[in-house]
Amino acid sequence: MQRKKKAIVILGLQWGDEGKGKFIDFLVLSLSKVSKLLVARFQGGSNAGHSIEFNGRQVVFHALPSGMLEKNTQNLIGAGVNVDVVSLKKEIEEIKDIAPWWKENLFIAKEATVVVPTAKLIDNAQEKARGKGKIGTTGKAIGPTYSDFYGRTDDLSVYEAVDEDVFKKRYEEIKKSHLDTLAKKYSFEIDEQELRNQEEEFFDGIKFLRTLNIVSSASFTNTSMKDRQLFAEGAQGTLLDVRFGSRRDVTSSHTTSAGACVGLGIAPQSIGEVIGILKAYATRVGSGPFPTEIGGTRAYAWSGNHKRADEENFNYDINDADPLHQEIALRTLGREYGATTGRLRRCGWLDLPLAKYAIELNGVTKLGITKLDILDTLDEIPVCIGYEGYDGVDMDNLHNVKGIYKKLLGWKKNTRGLTSYEELPKEAKDYLSFIEQELGVPVAFISTGPARDEMIEKIPII
Ligand code: IMO
Ligand code: MG
Repeated sequence: MQRKKKAIVILGLQWGDEGKGKFIDFLVLSLSKVSKLLVARFQGGSNAGHSIEFNGRQVVFHALPSGMLEKNTQNLIGAGVNVDVVSLKKEIEEIKDIAPWWKENLFIAKEATVVVPTAKLIDNAQEKARGKGKIGTTGKAIGPTYSDFYGRTDDLSVYEAVDEDVFKKRYEEIKKSHLDTLAKKYSFEIDEQELRNQEEEFFDGIKFLRTLNIVSSASFTNTSMKDRQLFAEGAQGTLLDVRFGSRRDVTSSHTTSAGACVGLGIAPQSIGEVIGILKAYATRVGSGPFPTEIGGTRAYAWSGNHKRADEENFNYDINDADPLHQEIALRTLGREYGATTGRLRRCGWLDLPLAKYAIELNGVTKLGITKLDILDTLDEIPVCIGYEGYDGVDMDNLHNVKGIYKKLLGWKKNTRGLTSYEELPKEAKDYLSFIEQELGVPVAFISTGPARDEMIEKIPII
């Protein structure tokens, strides 16, 4: 029997939006030259937004794996994913012209759960009911769909959806139960016409799903791994993990490397590398503790009450003495606006205690640092090295901690687009070395801009 190649898991170490899509895309491109690949999503759903630049055009993937733009790469939407058929269909429409091979290269796990329209209404109703304690979900029915799956009651599998008769019966049962919950538990008023429109799109999406390659996640992945390199592509980030993240202000899936095992059907020993993606600073969308948020509660209130357009005409200096202005400047420079929802991302400094926690949870072997170039104009760069009166991290106490910062010297030079480590200014190298030393994991990649080739490969992955 042929020996399987060890899998590479790539995931975010922060609150999502670390720039994972770009790294996967880069690795897919470079490694597809030496090996056949399988790129797989193992958790989450259309709540993810992975931006990839392709020939100057920005493509955002939500549910699709990031290997779709490569001709000889297989892509799997694994068992642990929530499949939103409406969003999936739209996504595919958008890439058909640049990925004419999409159909033969895309595989959907029959064990995956299908998102139904009424689950989105429940997401909505739950957020309303949470009032001030709302999570700020993406509204893509992630929580309700996973709850239904784990509750083993109102879930619809891909396997059931592709069988016309089973689907009809099952869908009606689920819809009835959801409407009942919405009425009785949430006194939620349904817009009947709106629901009918959504159902129409949904049924179209189900028909479309039936035309795709439906496979069994575990057997497909393990067989494919005999002659393909598996990239398991994480969505969201470690700190949004349903169990080990900041409780309730999280997503509903396992975003850690263990999630790749249960979300695809592979054994832990089959994972060879875990690449952790860390943005050179930090961002968070939605509610929840964020110890290094620049401007603290003032900035939090601002980001909840404003839109991108409100900030477009500001021209604050990144070195502004007012932290809120500095935060806005960083957001504008880093284009930190949600790819899925368009919301303002809250911005903060790099938090090393949390990064250490994430590295330990995932068994990270190499680091990828993104958006280094965004820090180019800072005089000095604060990095959180610990919390006052505290050792390590207690996720339940994250609301109350106060960060201790070390200020590193800024490089004040342009690093955008650099491709060799030697070209980096001394202070930028110092910043990276400091991260490596504190975290005890080598930096393999550094992204210096959004385009595919704006990347430094410091250590080869394979
Ligand atoms: P990518 O893959 C950033 C956040 C939401 C909310 C919480 C729960 O682009 O990094 P959910 O809709 O999942 O129930 O929302 O999780 N969130 C993300 N934040 N990037 C993402 O994905 C996210 N997906 C969900 O803002 O706080
Ligand atoms: Mg995102």
